[in-house]
Amino acid sequence: MKKNWWKESVVYQIYPKSFNDSNGDGIGDINGIIEKLDYLKELGVNVLWISPMLESPQDDNGYDISDYRRIYKDYGTMEDYEKLLEEAHRREIKVLMDLVVNHTSDEHQWFLESKKSKDNPYRDYYIWKNPVNGKEPNNWGGVFGGSAWEYDDETQMYYLHLFSKKQPDLNWENEKVRQEVYDMMKFWCDKGIDGFRMDVISMISKDQSFPEGKVGSGLYGDFGPYCVHGPRVHEFLKEMNREVLSKYDIMTVGETSGVTIEEAQKYAGENSGELNMVFQFEHVEDASQHVEFGKWTTARYDFKAFKKTMIKWQEQLQGKAWNSLFLGNHDQPRSVSRFGNDNPAYRETSAKMLATCLHMMQGTPYVYQGEELGMTNVYFDKLEDYRDIESIQYYTELTDSGLMDPDYMMKCLMLRSRDNARTPMQWNDSEQAGFTKGQPWIKVNPNYKEINAKSQLADPDSIFHYYQKLIRIRKEKDIVVYGEFEPLYREDDQIFAYIRRLGEERLLTVCNFSEHPAEMEIPEEFTKARCLISNLERKSFEGKIVLKPYEAFVLYK
Ligand code: NOJ
Repeated sequence: MKKNWWKESVVYQIYPKSFNDSNGDGIGDINGIIEKLDYLKELGVNVLWISPMLESPQDDNGYDISDYRRIYKDYGTMEDYEKLLEEAHRREIKVLMDLVVNHTSDEHQWFLESKKSKDNPYRDYYIWKNPVNGKEPNNWGGVFGGSAWEYDDETQMYYLHLFSKKQPDLNWENEKVRQEVYDMMKFWCDKGIDGFRMDVISMISKDQSFPEGKVGSGLYGDFGPYCVHGPRVHEFLKEMNREVLSKYDIMTVGETSGVTIEEAQKYAGENSGELNMVFQFEHVEDASQHVEFGKWTTARYDFKAFKKTMIKWQEQLQGKAWNSLFLGNHDQPRSVSRFGNDNPAYRETSAKMLATCLHMMQGTPYVYQGEELGMTNVYFDKLEDYRDIESIQYYTELTDSGLMDPDYMMKCLMLRSRDNARTPMQWNDSEQAGFTKGQPWIKVNPNYKEINAKSQLADPDSIFHYYQKLIRIRKEKDIVVYGEFEPLYREDDQIFAYIRRLGEERLLTVCNFSEHPAEMEIPEEFTKARCLISNLERKSFEGKIVLKPYEAFVLYK
């Protein structure tokens, strides 16, 4: 397998609005990130993916960009950003920019021009359609609820927005749009960024016949089959690669919800000429696919389905394309609350267990801010505490229409809302968890006195130090990066275990995903193996053993 720096990296995702506020306005900022670079260096990560920091009306917290070449004023200035690059590079930390080019903000200059008249030079930068029988051009629903079409009085036509109505979709069929995007990407590469995380990049090409979508349990039709992995997406990405990516030594990861193993190889195969890796979401979307209202459910994840999916991606991408490894991000609930157990009795052990399971796999691991502390869901029980557009719009749509009982929908938000991951980073036990000296834009999780970076830095057995050790093991041992993956106990409903092999070396990872003891037998080839890391005390690592609740360890030979 070809060796690359991005295969050997560990990425840390920063959600800037909630990371660290240096000026007391309640919103995280660039200088706040710079203040914490030493913390990140100590953790051991060597790449940062920072969610969008460009000019934006913040309808979707920056995923609605109104100027691709300006820093959002509340985050700082271009000088601050340049300083961040310099300071990160000085510590041998690379920085990925979040590239959001499926859509812009409706306040972007291109859109302001585009909506002025049908013959404006920017008209075709977006997707405009005439009404059909006085209504929307088709029945597609947007990702955040409501129709995916918005009527504009000025020219009496509809524009497409797969996300909020303040996020009109760019028309990638238009060559000028693509050139604008490539020029902008070069602008940032020339400034010295080290790569891109590409927002919903699988949605940039739309089926130009715009057919009706299938209606499920909700009110609108599904645009999925016509916009996700659309007809020209690979052609566009190959062009982007030729024009921009291939000219720089950078890392690229595409957000490709709904991607299959076959599609993933087209996007990120060793020789695809498109991207380095993709995020697949099967393991975090599994529970949603079988219930009525997608992710809005109180159902707990199904461990065996989860394990099967994780194993499938390990086995089937092996040697063909490269995995991204993650259990959480700014769109997902907190991983310890979802896949582990955030009850104080098990939170620490289960957070370490999850990290062990993920970090010893093949692929590039992503740590989402606060995950290294075992931060939990916030479980807001009042709608007024929520800030996320998706949570608020869906609550209104599903309860107003009578499709969902308000109390039940509130329970769904408490478990599934994106705001669970967006509460401020918990730095210490002072007011507002040390995130800000002012009033935070979203409430701090009340458990910050028990869960915070300061106390974990002082405790050698903390989750923070456990992550640090996992990252160090990956840096020291090629087998963790390049070793072949072989699962054990496929059908077991508590244990997730696997072997990695590279030449003569062997690595065994064992995790108990349940709060009950679990019996297993250590394979003979690991007799006299050395334990590299474990989350609980254990005397013997040989023969038949009984794992304690959420126990995890890694053996090496
Ligand atoms: C995916 C991003 O991760 C999410 O936060 C955002 O709302 C949508 N794309 C739209 O940009």
